Amino acid sequence: AATGEHSLKRVLGPTNLVTLGIGAIIGTGIFVLTGQAAAQYAGPAIVLSMIVAGIASGLAGLCYSEFASTVPIAGSAYTYGYATLGEFIAWIIGWDLILEYALGGATVAVGWSGHLSSFLQDFLGITIPASIASAPCTVIAAAGCNPDSYINLPAVLIALAVTVLIVIGIKESANVNSVIVVIKVAVVLIVILGGAAFVNSANWQPFIPPNTGSFGEYGWSGVLRGAGVIFFAYIGFDAVSVAAQEAKNPQRDMPIGILGSLAICTILYILVSGVMVGLVPYRDMLGSPAPMVLAIRAAEAASGGSGLLRMMTMLVELGAIAGLSSVMVVLMMAQPRIFYSMARDGLLP
Ligand code: ALA
Repeated sequence: AATGEHSLKRVLGPTNLVTLGIGAIIGTGIFVLTGQAAAQYAGPAIVLSMIVAGIASGLAGLCYSEFASTVPIAGSAYTYGYATLGEFIAWIIGWDLILEYALGGATVAVGWSGHLSSFLQDFLGITIPASIASAPCTVIAAAGCNPDSYINLPAVLIALAVTVLIVIGIKESANVNSVIVVIKVAVVLIVILGGAAFVNSANWQPFIPPNTGSFGEYGWSGVLRGAGVIFFAYIGFDAVSVAAQEAKNPQRDMPIGILGSLAICTILYILVSGVMVGLVPYRDMLGSPAPMVLAIRAAEAASGGSGLLRMMTMLVELGAIAGLSSVMVVLMMAQPRIFYSMARDGLLP
């Protein structure tokens, strides 16, 4: 029942689909997790982790492309599960996707709030009190549970704002997303090109730090663990498939959207993570909510306060704030389409 009164409109072309993918992919993962995974698990070899996670995503992306062009209706992996393995498996996958999109959206909202706070603090001198910028009893690094936090208000407000946009329509959401994608890809390119000049190659040595004796702490096992963590940075290419029922020519354009966005982001990720671990010793990024900013700050200090780097810090902050909101747009746009497909099949009210 992919037609009828409640069917979705076919309005998205190949460019929309690629930008939808990039919109969902570049986000908290690259801006936040990369630094943390480098600091704790992989060291400079985070670049290898990026390659491993990129290959894994590529294999999944091929499957998604095949399915999305064969079964071009909304619902992504839920629909494919239904078509091939039956209702029960589909129901499980449907709830998996709800975890991915709803919890993913919430995670990114929290990342957004962190970047907004640090931007307001650093550039405008405005402090958002921690009590209204973190969830109840949020654990703050070494200090433990903070009993005075009540609500993450910025995260709640951005989730509401994104909801309003999505309710207005997919075409409008895709257009806003496209504008944001241009901004955030530009920011990542600026970090790669601008940061490259300030890389200190000593930071890349040893490229694969020796394993500490525990599995996953540096060494090759650390590379793999790092790949597992930063896989989150790649999530989102699958969200393109959710829009299959809204693509003008799904057979041709779904593979372009899914694999095209993934390929572009993989290349950007490998380069930007290499620059980050070249700007600052990897251990220094531990526990930072905004490691990419920290890396550029460190380079700024080392260069004796380069104005170019100072401007880059600001651009990265702004790019992260804009960029994370587009991840939310795509994840939160995917969520109701999963609900829609499940409800159409009678698996949800
Ligand atoms: N890939 C998305 C992100 O990193 C989910 O924020």
